[in-house]
Amino acid sequence: MKGIVLAGGHGTRLAPLTDAVSKQLLPVYDKPVIHYPLATLLLAGIRDVVIISTPRDLPLIRNLLGSGEQLGIRITYREQVRPEGIGQAFLIAEDDIEGSPVCLILGDNFFYGHELSNMLQKSAKLQRGANVYAYQVADPERYGVLEIDPQGRAICIEEKPNRPKSNWAVTGLYFYDETVVSVAKSIRPSTRGELEITDINRHYIDKGELTVTRLGRGFAWLDTGTFDSLLDASLFVKTIEVRQGTKISCIEEIAFRQGFIDERQLLALAEKYRNSRYGQYLGSLISSELS
Ligand code: TTP
Repeated sequence: MKGIVLAGGHGTRLAPLTDAVSKQLLPVYDKPVIHYPLATLLLAGIRDVVIISTPRDLPLIRNLLGSGEQLGIRITYREQVRPEGIGQAFLIAEDDIEGSPVCLILGDNFFYGHELSNMLQKSAKLQRGANVYAYQVADPERYGVLEIDPQGRAICIEEKPNRPKSNWAVTGLYFYDETVVSVAKSIRPSTRGELEITDINRHYIDKGELTVTRLGRGFAWLDTGTFDSLLDASLFVKTIEVRQGTKISCIEEIAFRQGFIDERQLLALAEKYRNSRYGQYLGSLISSELS
């Protein structure tokens, strides 16, 4: 399975923070926003990743993450000239996906919780149909809302409904089979001029092929699109990291634990960041493995 991080957008709700830089490069406590969705892909075992962003921000993201070799993965960079919808990601990355199933994650989405890694690895085995992640929210009218049958299959999806049929919102994490590119090509832009991910999901629902992974109340799904959500995410990460002495969504640690890189490579990353507590944490992983 291949992965896509869709990390473009205008970030208008975060202006002036986003006047010069993508929201995906802003910090959530001790790391840039984009590390969090990338960590989710790594936890799923995905090592071939396409990052899509704006012409302005793509070079900066490339400076940050490079070829991916340091993490034992491959990163390809593609431009989205204008933010014309989440569904456009599949057209932009068509040549990179090359007829493989694909996981799409939005660049500002943050997932955390017990056993998440196992759930992701199960989803990454998908060969047919689609699987979306859903989360219970207090304000479903702001999201794509799912009606789900007892077997976990979606019956219907409604975008920002006045009368939501459930509290289960579609998150920014989606797994699709290799037909998703042709599905994306078959849909028309909405009235707001975007290729809507909801229309792609509806296509799979109509075939009875959209399954839903529900993230229960033990999980956190946060986004970082507003001043408050950005600060909340930072405080959440700080609280857990300081209390436990571990890190959330640390891409270097995950790459090491997944066996994508060895101790020598992790040591090189720890050296690079040796003046920050981040680098010292990476170094401590090697000593704790050795002890
Ligand atoms: P949004 O939060 O909907 O849009 P935005 O990031 O432009 O922010 P704002 O509403 O403040 O203007 O996007 C959610 C995520 O999806 C975000 O990481 C950007 C990404 N995105 C794209 O990269 N391209 C797109 O065409 C769309 C619609 C979203």
